[in-house]
Amino acid sequence: MAREEFSIATNDIVEGGFHSENQQHDDCGNSRNNFPKRKVGMGCNVLCVGILIAIVLAIVLLCIGFIVVYENEGQVVAKVELFDIDLPPEQTIWFDANLAELRNAFRVVEENKKRAKNVILFIALDSAAQTLHAETRPVWESFPHLALLRPSVQEGARVSFNPTSMFSGIEPRWHTIGFDSAVAPWDNCDGVLNCTHCATSILEWAQSAGRLTGVVTNGELVQPFLAALYAHTPNASWQYTSPDVQECPDLRSQLLSGDTGKQLNVIAGMLNCPDEFCREAFAAAWESERLNEGTSYKLATDVKDLLDSALDDRDYALGLYDQRMLAEPEAFHDLVVGALKILKRPEGFVLVAVADPKVPIAASEIDCAVKVTLQELSAVLDDTLVVVVRSNAHEGDGSFATVHATGPMSHLLHRVHNQTFLAHFISYAARIGRFRDAGLTNFILQMV
Ligand SMILES: *[C@@H]1O[C@H](CO)[C@@H](O)[C@H](O)[C@H]1NC(C)=O
Ligand SMILES: *[C@@H]1O[C@H](CO)[C@@H](O)[C@H](O)[C@H]1NC(C)=O
Ligand SMILES: *[C@@H]1O[C@H](CO)[C@@H](O)[C@H](O)[C@H]1NC(C)=O
Repeated sequence: MAREEFSIATNDIVEGGFHSENQQHDDCGNSRNNFPKRKVGMGCNVLCVGILIAIVLAIVLLCIGFIVVYENEGQVVAKVELFDIDLPPEQTIWFDANLAELRNAFRVVEENKKRAKNVILFIALDSAAQTLHAETRPVWESFPHLALLRPSVQEGARVSFNPTSMFSGIEPRWHTIGFDSAVAPWDNCDGVLNCTHCATSILEWAQSAGRLTGVVTNGELVQPFLAALYAHTPNASWQYTSPDVQECPDLRSQLLSGDTGKQLNVIAGMLNCPDEFCREAFAAAWESERLNEGTSYKLATDVKDLLDSALDDRDYALGLYDQRMLAEPEAFHDLVVGALKILKRPEGFVLVAVADPKVPIAASEIDCAVKVTLQELSAVLDDTLVVVVRSNAHEGDGSFATVHATGPMSHLLHRVHNQTFLAHFISYAARIGRFRDAGLTNFILQMV
């Protein structure tokens, strides 16, 4: 085996490819309008039938020809030969390993353009995670696609990641959550907040599209990276109290009874409220809401409770913990597993798992959580988008975050993107928000 053929195909993707891609979908969807219906005359003789068949054949051939030409457009195919060279074993090992890596790269060309029924988004920014040993590669490093996310310059020239930017896809003002830039941070609640300038999050979009939703964290449920998923507040400090509970409800109240908060199928994390019995009060209010609705639920006071498989068919789960419980090794991993048990349904889901930068966690535990997600969903991986956003930056030093992805549409992450792109990318891949499917399409997709 002196040499073998090694084929390389380059795919020239033009700027604005997203647009033309979209156009193509539109053309397909509307194509039936381009072919006016015709009535075929009843008195057709043999010649007429013959001509008809010939026409049909010609159209079929034309279509095939068109598709073939279309598929090959912009593609340069070249035969590349692989020569066998004599190398010392110390070098052969690297050449062989990287040949395998090159072959892997070809597989990436087969893009998964399905609809992402399920989305799991892991966020581990400025993570307190101890770095993995150099020899252990976390599983996301083998994901087929990755990109960099650029933090934005906030007021006062601080460069940072912002949860409203990432989850709602718009740039807000500093210290606000879930509002666009028309809303400035407030120190007291003296205006009636209407929602003209509310920014809607990926979870709100998912809920409107009939998907299940969940949030889990090993830190506080009311910290900005969780709150931006379910709340709107002009002052991120109003976590457990606010100057006016009616007009400017605090984040805890919005998690419990806000439009998005009360529809969350899974809530798991820490509530560190200053008031006594606050977790108990929250759990009781949440439970009575479930009883009112007549929905089934799972209430966990211990991390392991969430894993109780006897309760997997429940519609909702709430797990409220203290710092000590979530500092246990495996806590983050167990929360993710518990959430997946509830969320794995035919309707599909969007789950956001946030590793709190303030809580020390072994990087291998985040790795395990991602691995277990891939295992739990192995039967539906083709319909599941797994995204891991990571940075090792120290607060505000302006470095980019990496975003690794596998599953439907993950190839759309392809270069340095603004952080706001994350929300729009998920919206498109999962067909939620602006890209949601029309009611009928959705219905048919759920049937099949
Ligand atoms: C936010 O609210 C806190 C507590 O009510 C207050 O001390 C702080 O000044 C407010 N921040 C801004 C930017 O208005
Ligand atoms: C909402 O508030 C803005 C000003 O903040 C105002 O211009 C707008 O008319 C209000 N909309 C409604 C529906 O009240
Ligand atoms: C990305 O951010 C830069 C700087 O904030 C801005 O100029 C640019 O228009 C943004 N691009 C997109 C696609 O949002």
